[in-house]
Amino acid sequence: MSNSKKYSVGIVGLGAMGSALALNFADHRIPVAVYNRTSERAGQLVREVGNPDLLGAFFTLEDLCASLKLPRVVILMVPSGAPVDDQIRALSGILKAGDLIVDGGNSFFQDTIRREQELAFRQISFIGCGVSGGPEGARRGPALMPGGDVAAWSLLAPLLMPIAAKNPDGRVCCRWIGPDGAGHYVKMVHNFIEYGVMELIGETVWLLAGAGFSLPECAGILRSWQKGACGGYLLGISADILETADPEGEGALLDRIVDRAEQKGTGEWALAESIRLGVPIDTLAAAVLARIVSCASRDRRSFAARCAVCGGSGALDLNAGMLEKALYPALLSCYAQGFELLRAAAVAYHWPLKLAKIADLWRGGCILQGNLLGEILPALAGETGNLFATVFLADRVRDNACAWRRTVAEA
Ligand code: 6PG
Repeated sequence: MSNSKKYSVGIVGLGAMGSALALNFADHRIPVAVYNRTSERAGQLVREVGNPDLLGAFFTLEDLCASLKLPRVVILMVPSGAPVDDQIRALSGILKAGDLIVDGGNSFFQDTIRREQELAFRQISFIGCGVSGGPEGARRGPALMPGGDVAAWSLLAPLLMPIAAKNPDGRVCCRWIGPDGAGHYVKMVHNFIEYGVMELIGETVWLLAGAGFSLPECAGILRSWQKGACGGYLLGISADILETADPEGEGALLDRIVDRAEQKGTGEWALAESIRLGVPIDTLAAAVLARIVSCASRDRRSFAARCAVCGGSGALDLNAGMLEKALYPALLSCYAQGFELLRAAAVAYHWPLKLAKIADLWRGGCILQGNLLGEILPALAGETGNLFATVFLADRVRDNACAWRRTVAEA
């Protein structure tokens, strides 16, 4: 690969997210240099793009850095924790004052603050950037939440704005979130809400099954809700999963998947933060705890065998309309709790978080994209306080309270 300084951005780490992001840069004609410990994936990307001026592969960090335009921008797409520190240590011996390192993983925000301070000694800028949308989002347009060294944002913005998703109103799903670890904090809360929404959808399907619906019927019901207030990306992929047949046998794939939901860290950190800042986040806490319970498979099964009070399909007196009406205020609660945590963090850390702008950014590209975010925008735009205290939420809770109570009682 040629060593003339021509690439606008470098990517370290070619897992699913790093590779997809690299291809996204190339799609937008932003020349990108990639580095990976092993050469196979890098070679695949070079062949896929087929234009060495747009995507070049390098097998040492020195060569990668030498291939970049000055000041250099290097994006880390490696697992959070020690791998980020390892790469920063290696890069900081090569990069010079004025260069920028961006961490695009799900890092703990206090680590981001520490890293920015450590790199500042060498006059290397650091930005922690939340990236949402999974590999598909990273490839076609993710939601991006950069935070950290604000002076470096002018260097990064021309690279990130073109590759980000657009929301339904055409606004780019990328904006400066705030200083320190604000970007990673907002991504952490995004994931916290994601855990809550996933748990609620999971419980809804469980209740539908208890009311006698088969998994393909549940999929059809979720799809019929897509245009309504509960509609969104997570509801859509849940329907996809429910109707996927086991490719290696009879029946649904879901019945063949081990019912353990592990977690990479963001849910647990957010739960600890909520307790630290004194923000009640019951629904989201329940979702994190449900994942922990799910992993205690043996105890769970023996408890179920001894204590089952009812069971079997058709045991519950619930219908789809009632469950949709119960799901809606429960989903609203997830968002209200998440935004309340962000409001508390803005005060505690002196960050200028704009809640309505964050909700608007999440309306495209990310895992939370859905109809409900558009609905709560006006209530958030007032920035007057807790969403639970708004007329908007009170009206929605009142309108759906009967179905919600009935569902909880039956459950
Ligand atoms: C996203 C997702 C993605 C992933 C997290 C959480 O926005 O694209 O949040 O980042 O879901 O890594 O993973 P766990 O659910 O395994 O904690």
